[in-house]
Amino acid sequence: MCFGYWARKVCYNGSKSAIEGDNEKMKLKHELNDDERETLIELFHSYHDTILSEWLKVACISEDDPFRHEIMINGGHTIRLIVAYIEDPETQLVQQLTKKIAHERVKAKVGIGEFISNINLGRSIIYRVLEMTEAPKEAQLKYLLVVNDFFDLYMYHALTEYTRVKDSIIKNKSRFIQEMHSDRLSILGQVAASFAHEFRNPLTSIKGFIQMIESQTKTEETSAYFDIINHEMESLQEKITQFLYLSKMKGLDDQSETFSLDRIIKEMLDFLYPRFLDENINVHHDPFPQVKVYGVEGQIKQVLLNILNNAVEELSEVEGDRNVYVSLVEEESTQLTISNNGSMIPEHLLEDIFEPFISTKQLGTGLGLSVCKQIVEKHKGTINVRSSETETSFYLTFPKGD
Ligand SMILES: Nc1ncnc2c1ncn2[C@@H]1O[C@H](COP(=O)(O)OP(=O)(O)OP(=O)(O)O)[C@@H](O)[C@H]1O
Ligand SMILES: [Mg+2]
Repeated sequence: MCFGYWARKVCYNGSKSAIEGDNEKMKLKHELNDDERETLIELFHSYHDTILSEWLKVACISEDDPFRHEIMINGGHTIRLIVAYIEDPETQLVQQLTKKIAHERVKAKVGIGEFISNINLGRSIIYRVLEMTEAPKEAQLKYLLVVNDFFDLYMYHALTEYTRVKDSIIKNKSRFIQEMHSDRLSILGQVAASFAHEFRNPLTSIKGFIQMIESQTKTEETSAYFDIINHEMESLQEKITQFLYLSKMKGLDDQSETFSLDRIIKEMLDFLYPRFLDENINVHHDPFPQVKVYGVEGQIKQVLLNILNNAVEELSEVEGDRNVYVSLVEEESTQLTISNNGSMIPEHLLEDIFEPFISTKQLGTGLGLSVCKQIVEKHKGTINVRSSETETSFYLTFPKGD
C-alpha cells in the first residue's frame, strides 16, 4: 500500500535503495542551508512542549487505551524525531519509532482512521506553529516543505507497518478458524460415516423382510404402499452409499476394471427415463463412440446419477422447453459433458459447488457433487462446471481406459 507523493515514488522504485534514492531527491528538493536548519531545529526545541500539549488536547486517545501513557511519550519522541530528520533525512529512526507506534496502535485495537487522524493533527499543529514564527515567508515555506516531507515519510512507514501487522493477525485468525472448522468437519464426517455404516446392515435386512412380506401379502390395496416403502428404502440406501463414499469408507462394490463408459451412460439414461418423461425433459445426444474407462463401474454410475438428478431437479423448475444434452468424445482423454438449460448458478455458489453440504434445495444434503468430485478424482479425472444464463454444463474427463 502506498501513501502520498513520497510513498508513490518509493513504490515505483520498489527496493530499499530506491527509498534511499528518493531521500536523495527530497534532500535536493527541500534542502535547507545551515542557518535555516539550525533555526528550524531551535524552533522545535523551544516549541516542543507547546506542540505536545496542543496535540494532546485534540488527539483522539481513549480513556482505556492500554498505551495511554506511551502515547504522550511517543508524541515527544516524534517531535525529537523531526529534529533528527532535519539533521539527517536518511535517519533510520523514523522506521524504528513508527514500527513501535504501529504495533501499539494495533494492540490497542485502534482503527486506522483514528490512527491517521492523530498523525495529521500533529502535522497541522506544527504547521500552525511554523506560521506563527517571525521567519521570512520564503524560509517558512521551506520549513513547511521539510516538515511535510517528514510527515509523508512517517505516515508511509507507520501505515505500512500497521497494515502489515493487521494483515498477519487476520491471516492467523482465518487459518485458526479454518483449522477448527476442518477439524470439526472431519469429526462430524467420522460420526456420520460410522452412523451410515451401522444403518446399512439393519436396512438391508428390513428391506429383505419387507420384500418377503410383500410377496406373501401384496394386494391391490397395499401395492401402492409397498411401492412407496421400496422407493424410500432405495433412496435411504443411496444416501448412505453417498455418505460412505464421502467419508472415504469403501463402497460395497469397489472392484476396479475396464468397462464401457458409453454403455453405462445409456444405462443411466434408461434408468432415469421415467423421470425424464414425468418432467417433460428432452434428452439430446449423438450416437456415443465406444469408450473404455478403468475404474469402479458402480461409482461412475453414481456420478452420472448425481449430475443427471441435479439436471432433472433444476429443470423441474423451468417453464417452457426442458433439455438435457449429453456428449461423449474421445481424444487425448475421454471427455463427457452433461448440460441442461436451467437457470444460471450464481457465481458465489459456483466456487463452492463441489464442497460438501452446499445446497440450495430444501431437502438437499449437498453431497451429490462433492461425491462426484471425489469419485472422479479417484479415477484420475477432472470435473468442472460452467453456468450461463442459458445453460449449465458439467465437464468430466477421464484417462483413456485401454
Ligand atoms: N444442473 C444444475 N443446475 C443448477 N444448479 C445446480 C445444478 N447442479 C447442481 N446445482 C446446484 O448445486 C447445489 C449442490 O448440488 P449437490 O448435488 O451437491 O447437492 P444437492 O443436489 O443440493 O443435494 P443432494 O445431496 O441431494 O444431491 C444444488 O443445491 C444446486 O443449487
Ligand atoms: Mg444433487
